[in-house]
Amino acid sequence: MFKPRNPLEDTAEGIERRIGTLPEELRDRWEDRLSRADATELPELSRKLNKFIQERRSLNSQKAPPFMTDLKHLESDEGRIYATLARIGEAAEREDLYVGKGKAAKVFKDMKDSRVCYKSITNFEEYRLCNSIGNEAKYLEDLEDLVVDGVRTPILYTVIDLPSVKVISMEYLEAMSIEDILAQGKALPENFDFDLFAKRLRAYMTAMHARHIYHRDMHMGNILIAPDSSPYIIDFGKAAFAITEESAYEARDAAGVPMKPYARDELQLEKVLDHLKRYYLSH
Ligand SMILES: Nc1ncnc2c1ncn2[C@@H]1O[C@H](COP(=O)(O)OP(=O)(O)OP(=O)(O)O)[C@@H](O)[C@H]1O
Ligand SMILES: [Mg+2]
Repeated sequence: MFKPRNPLEDTAEGIERRIGTLPEELRDRWEDRLSRADATELPELSRKLNKFIQERRSLNSQKAPPFMTDLKHLESDEGRIYATLARIGEAAEREDLYVGKGKAAKVFKDMKDSRVCYKSITNFEEYRLCNSIGNEAKYLEDLEDLVVDGVRTPILYTVIDLPSVKVISMEYLEAMSIEDILAQGKALPENFDFDLFAKRLRAYMTAMHARHIYHRDMHMGNILIAPDSSPYIIDFGKAAFAITEESAYEARDAAGVPMKPYARDELQLEKVLDHLKRYYLSH
C-alpha cells in the first residue's frame, strides 16, 4: 500500500529524532553521517536511515531484510536489457575480454568500454547457495561510498535478473587477484609494502563491519592488488548484513536448518595475508 512520505522526516531534526530511537551503540555512525551531510543530502540520508531501521525490524523478527526493494540499479527497461544481452553474448565468447572466473560466475570486459566488466552467473546450482544477484549487487551499491585508505569495491552499474540470465555490470578494476598472482607466479608491484597492504585491508574490513556488512568469503580470489599496490575487495555473493557479530556468520540451509557457520572475515583475511607474506618474502 502506498504511504505518503512525511517531508519533516527529511529535515536534520527528523533524522536526529529517528537516530534517537536506535540502540546507543548504533547511533554514532548515523550521527557522524548526519554531521557530514549538507542540506541536499538529507533526503537520501533519511531514506537510508529508514531502510536501516526497517532492516533491523525484519532481522529482529527473523525475516530476510528487504534488500531487493531498494536496489537502484536493477535494469527494468526491456529495450536496454536486450541491448545489454546482445553485447554480453558476444563479449562472453571472446578470449581477449576474459577477466576471470570463480565457482559461480565468469567475468569479462565490455567490447567497447574498457572501464566496464560483467559478472555473469554460469553455475546456477552453486549460485543457489549464494545471495541472489540483486542481493549481491546491493552490497556493492551500499559500499559505493566507502573508501578506507584507498581500499574500495567496484562501482556498480546495472543488474540484470532474468530466470536464465543473471548479470552484474560493474567497474573493471585494473588489478589481479592474489590467487591469480600466486598461481601464475606474477611479480608483486614494484616497492610493494606488505605491512602497509595488510594494514589497509584490515582497516577497510573494520569499516565495512561498522556498517554491519560481513563479506564471509574473504579468500585469495576475492582480494585484488592494483599496480600501485592498492587492495580491492570484490564478490559479495556470500555477504550478509547483520546487526551483531555473533549472528553475522550463521549459516542455514534452504529449509532454515542451521549449518556449519562461515569463517570469520578476520580469520580468513589473516590466512590470505599469511600466504601472501610467504610469497612476498620468497620473490
Ligand atoms: N570488477 C572486477 N574487476 C577486475 N577483476 C574482477 C572483477 N570482478 C571479478 N574479477 C575477477 O574475476 C574473478 C571471478 O569473479 P568473482 O569472484 O566475482 O566470481 P565468483 O564465481 O563469485 O567467485 P567465488 O569462487 O569466490 O564464488 C575474480 O577472482 C577476479 O579475478
Ligand atoms: Mg570470487
